[in-house]
Amino acid sequence: MTQQPSAQLANRRRNRLLFVGLTCLDIVYVCRHFPVEDSDQRALDSQWRRGGNASNNCTVFRQLLHWWSSNNRSAAAAAAADTTDYEIEFMGTIGGDHASRFLVDDLLANGILIDNIVRHPDRQCPSSTVIINQSNGSRTIVHFNRNLPDLDGQSMANHITESLDRYLHIHFEGLRNVPNIRQMIAQIRDRDVNHEITVSVELEKVYKPLTELLDNAEDFGKYIDIYFVEKEFAGEILDYTDADQTAVGIASRLHPGALVVCPWGESGAVAYDNRIGQLYRSPVYPPKSGSVVDTLGAGDTFLSGTLFGLLVVGLSVEDAIKMGCQVAGAKCGQWYHKEMSSQGIPKEQGI
Ligand code: FRU
Repeated sequence: MTQQPSAQLANRRRNRLLFVGLTCLDIVYVCRHFPVEDSDQRALDSQWRRGGNASNNCTVFRQLLHWWSSNNRSAAAAAAADTTDYEIEFMGTIGGDHASRFLVDDLLANGILIDNIVRHPDRQCPSSTVIINQSNGSRTIVHFNRNLPDLDGQSMANHITESLDRYLHIHFEGLRNVPNIRQMIAQIRDRDVNHEITVSVELEKVYKPLTELLDNAEDFGKYIDIYFVEKEFAGEILDYTDADQTAVGIASRLHPGALVVCPWGESGAVAYDNRIGQLYRSPVYPPKSGSVVDTLGAGDTFLSGTLFGLLVVGLSVEDAIKMGCQVAGAKCGQWYHKEMSSQGIPKEQGI
């Protein structure tokens, strides 16, 4: 992969990446096969994991920083990206029950900053019951949120706007609080007058109002630099049938500086860069171990791998989506994300 000077070098004081969105409890059951309705089987394993897209993004990004600095630093890479310099922050809402405390402890144990989380002591932690089918690594999620609200528009103003100049990049997971996400992004752009912070959004959930984040009205569209658009959203909300069509179609309704990135499961990923009118493709990189064991959070891993390539390593768009696919492939061959920091991403994965 070719390394270009990291965008981050331009301004070293901006060393913090913020991921805004959900953290929730994942109660994971590993099963020999996917259960038949109204049947009874013993699981092979069960775990509590900290989940939620933005929360998973933070985990993976932290592990990539660790992995990159300890396993993969050529002199050139070291010069381009001193990974010890970066801070990773999660921002979202947190309840007050036992499961919420588990999430907070786990975020802190993983070195993720939570300075600006919004606590709701009388609310419950959202949770997902996840069945991982051991025979093919598929993950089936049933999510439930009893009463924890998403962030409101004021959260950004209250907590972050005073110290905005420490942020290099801010990512928003597209949840149901679309007007609030728009408000938070507009607040960032109001204060970041020289557009020194890059902003990305993820459109994954099958929720129609998320299309408002693609809206050019009142210049809003210009505020977002990178769009991650997932297969389910593209198909069910926008009626696109393949990745090329999605990337090109969405890019055509966005501003000239936009980058659209579309992870497409087993077909790899594509990206369309409006700055130069170019489409890029990456193949999928299956785990080198040969077997897919755990796909929970693979999309979140792709997203962090791609952003890591773009923002930290300074890769081209084409190489960054390849890095995203390679890291996601490595993740699918491992349980959870833990082994990615302890063992790194196998060299033979191609990175
Ligand atoms: C995986 C994930 C899980 C969580 C679910 C929420 O991408 O973030 O960790 O339970 O999606 O939709």
